[in-house]
Amino acid sequence: MKDIHEELEARRDVARLGGGQRRIDVQHSKGKLTARERVELLLDEGSFEEFDMFVTHRCTDFGMEKQKFPGDGVITGWGTINGRMVYVYSQDFTVFGGSLSETHAQKICKVMDMAMQNGAPVIGINDSGGARIQEGVASLAGYAEVFQRNIMASGVVPQISLIMGPCAGGAVYSPAMTDFIFMVKGSSYMFVTGPDVVKTVTNEVVTAEELGGSATHTKKSSVADGAFENDVVALAECRRLVDFLPLNNREKPPVRPFFDATDRSESSLDTLIPESANTAYDMKELIVKLADEGDFFEIQEEFAKNIITGFIRLEGQTVGVVGNQPMVLAGCLDIDSSRKAARFVRFCDAFEIPILTLVDVPGFLPGTSQEYGGVIKHGAKLLFAYGEATVPKVTVITRKAYGGAYDVMSSKHLRGDFNYAWPTAEIAVMGAKGATEIIHRGDLGDADKIAAHTADYEDRFANPFVAAERGFIDEVILPHSTRTRVSRAFASLRGKKQENPWKKHGNIPL
Ligand code: HXC
Repeated sequence: MKDIHEELEARRDVARLGGGQRRIDVQHSKGKLTARERVELLLDEGSFEEFDMFVTHRCTDFGMEKQKFPGDGVITGWGTINGRMVYVYSQDFTVFGGSLSETHAQKICKVMDMAMQNGAPVIGINDSGGARIQEGVASLAGYAEVFQRNIMASGVVPQISLIMGPCAGGAVYSPAMTDFIFMVKGSSYMFVTGPDVVKTVTNEVVTAEELGGSATHTKKSSVADGAFENDVVALAECRRLVDFLPLNNREKPPVRPFFDATDRSESSLDTLIPESANTAYDMKELIVKLADEGDFFEIQEEFAKNIITGFIRLEGQTVGVVGNQPMVLAGCLDIDSSRKAARFVRFCDAFEIPILTLVDVPGFLPGTSQEYGGVIKHGAKLLFAYGEATVPKVTVITRKAYGGAYDVMSSKHLRGDFNYAWPTAEIAVMGAKGATEIIHRGDLGDADKIAAHTADYEDRFANPFVAAERGFIDEVILPHSTRTRVSRAFASLRGKKQENPWKKHGNIPL
């Protein structure tokens, strides 16, 4: 009996060393943690339960039968984050570069299947040279098995990908189908084909960092939802995000203790809107002032900054926030911001997270680049996402809500539950100047007449009352009371039940 215990410990020690101390040292020298260290930091101390520690690959080509590492390059299991269960896999770059073999894939699939059965999120830590080259099609099949599970799990359990090293080839498509992707600055990259192939095929010379580093994916492509300074910060932020999310689509998001009065009045909000309608202000200030303890987890902070998306809590309950940002492109909706917000709204709806929409939007961005890029279809994504969402929806119009963008931004007509407006709201087909120049085209040569028409239009439409008279706005509220009003609105909607007609699935304009 003693012998078997010793053997178990000896085997565990070997498995814990992954590809060996030399390779661990190389990993550390790159500023990266090992797969095991990452799991330890991600999960509550001592909570990790490992599966399949002794699994090895079955490949016999290229002398592989002589090179076996217990665990086969991925650490899998479950544990807790602040007491709530999550499943996790963490690729071990010290074993064949974290490459994915048939058995490596089976280990990942096992935790994904268990996560689906037991209703808990899956967090994948990716650090891999892609398909295990020695295994050929068996490895490709392994990837496809993982992809299929990503698809089935979508909308059932939250899936989060942390990219903490290379992620190349088809390997990027598993993270791409998860809900959130976070990268580490300077040590992670994602691309379908690497710089060498790019050079051969297109003659472009580009570094790995330029092609698929964190700046590329958070600012240009929007593939990644955020990037952090190092592994430790990324893992801590992942824990923070998990605290906002429900464990699965049958559960409500967690309710946390809160230390911030619901009736907290914010008098500074009464002067947030500048005197001039063309002067910008920071919508994030409003978000932070509404949130419990000012805690805001932003998603896609560096992309399409004309719209803000992220999570706050009100009375301890998670709320997804979408807000136009007047400081960038005057808060116009365009292709990128529509896509960004649509995806966020759909995530919230899939996981029963109520949505707060803060509106200051002068319309859709005009221009050939937008039209050629398909702003009609991309803008429709956001319209579609809001219109199909059945979670509680509360909207506050702070200033402009013009044209089609008024309709899109969770208006009453898209089943908004509470639609509030500040006294500074202007709800109209377009701005007064533009409207005057169209309906009084004949007076364009006469500056006085145009000024009078503009003033007249402003008097009539640059306010919330026309919409309020029709019931499109439920109530005009004072800015300082917004936290109270919005919190009470969500509280009243906790029992909301709304169902869309049966269908296999809708056909969102992809
Ligand atoms: C087997 C691999 C491997 C792989 C790396 N290694 N990638 N072993 N299969 N795909 C091994 C190396 O042999 C080495 O072993 C160790 O991992 C570390 O690799 P290095 O090259 O020394 O590390 P580094 O210099 O940091 O470079 C990392 C890398 C590079 C950029 C990831 O290794 C690389 O380019 N690898 C190949 C990437 C690739 O082409 N993958 C296939 C993509 S196609 P030792 O024993 O020396 O430690 C694909 C298709 C999927 O993934 C399709 C799904 C639909």
